[in-house]
Amino acid sequence: MAEDICLFTKEGLIIKPPKKSPASLRILVLVFAMVCGVYIFSFCLKQTNVHTSSKFLNLKVNWRHCHGHSIDRSQTPYLHYPKPTTFSRAECACNPVRPFAILSMQRSGSGWFETLLNNHTNVSSNGEIFSVKERRNNVSSILSTLDRVYNLDWVSSASKNQCSSAVGFKWMLNQGLMEYHKEIVEYFNDRGVSVIFLFRRNLLRRMVSVLANSYDRYAKLLNGMHKSHVHSHEEADKLSSYKPIINSTSLVMDLKQMEKMVLEALEHFSSTRHIILYYEDLIKNRTKLVDVQEFLGLPLMELKSRQIKIHKGLLLDHIKNWDDVTKALRGTAYESFLHTDYAS
Ligand SMILES: *[C@@H]1O[C@H](CO)[C@@H](O)[C@H](O)[C@H]1NC(C)=O
Ligand SMILES: *[C@@H]1O[C@H](CO)[C@@H](O)[C@H](O)[C@H]1NC(C)=O
Ligand SMILES: *[C@@H]1O[C@H](CO)[C@@H](O)[C@H](O)[C@H]1NC(C)=O
Ligand SMILES: *[C@@H]1O[C@H](CO)[C@@H](O)[C@H](O)[C@H]1NC(C)=O
Ligand SMILES: *[C@@H]1O[C@H](CO)[C@@H](O)[C@H](O)[C@H]1NC(C)=O
Repeated sequence: MAEDICLFTKEGLIIKPPKKSPASLRILVLVFAMVCGVYIFSFCLKQTNVHTSSKFLNLKVNWRHCHGHSIDRSQTPYLHYPKPTTFSRAECACNPVRPFAILSMQRSGSGWFETLLNNHTNVSSNGEIFSVKERRNNVSSILSTLDRVYNLDWVSSASKNQCSSAVGFKWMLNQGLMEYHKEIVEYFNDRGVSVIFLFRRNLLRRMVSVLANSYDRYAKLLNGMHKSHVHSHEEADKLSSYKPIINSTSLVMDLKQMEKMVLEALEHFSSTRHIILYYEDLIKNRTKLVDVQEFLGLPLMELKSRQIKIHKGLLLDHIKNWDDVTKALRGTAYESFLHTDYAS
């Protein structure tokens, strides 16, 4: 047998078939296998040590009480068994809960994405809780707010209470997240909070949406009501009838600034358990929602939202000074923003 293997290379290499003692070769192989075995075993031991210690660090509340249910043990640091003070988890007390946060920027599809998540029976995503300034005045109010959310004690229209298996909210980068990133990352890693980054690839489209939305804040195009999200095509058409003028002088600089903020966020939070999503991909490819549900350890469901996109079709229909904008971006890294479009 050993001879066959060596004869194989008879053309090139000068490995001679061991004619004399196949027994010594066998011993050699045996020794090699043993050394490998010992190495792999010691490596595994080291890994297990790291895992168990971090597990013990991260374990919370009644882990012992509920443990033993069929869950993947490698996921343990990310699972919690909260005991809310405001209600009883009743029959779901031993269902693990996974805390998460959607990190995003205004007008990047996070409102729509959140309605999709909340369409899941077992998800509570509690909205933009840090839009209220007092909650992000200082680190201690941020952390105590997080504690309440992740202990299921936050009351919002999205609360599903006892049978939630993923609980979170959306957090805009300009809502204290970047200022206090060190403490927040520490909290996230300590509590096993999973991060969902949601960004928009086309930052020019985002800019149009920001300008139109802030215009509507005082113009109130829908019967005197300001709306950031709509549920009918008529409302969408009315809102998109306003075409913003974009400052073409500062445009490239503004886009650069947005891009920089995204990169900084990705860097600050890179040590957390995370997934990166882009709005455009979610629109084009519904399979991305399966990725998200798997990431949150949810039973798979078909997710629906009633929200409708406001600025559809070509971008040139949504910008008043299209020619200036085109000129400003021609030949820059952002030129493609002018043309990329949605398939649907
Ligand atoms: C999800 O959306 C569907 C269709 O709009 C609706 O019938 C269902 O009640 C929603 N489920 C939840 C949990 O919101
Ligand atoms: C933090 O902010 C909250 C309210 O926003 C305030 O009540 C509290 O005193 C502040 N804490 C510190 C340490 O500044
Ligand atoms: C999801 O919610 C349903 C009912 O609300 C509950 O029966 C089920 O156990 C929950 N699933 C998980 C994984 O928590
Ligand atoms: C456009 O941006 C430039 C440079 O930042 C600024 O000087 C100018 O005032 C802006 N124009 C308008 C109309 O806001
Ligand atoms: C859609 O998303 C899934 C999951 O991320 C990915 O595997 C697949 O390649 C995507 N399809 C297209 C056409 O991009």
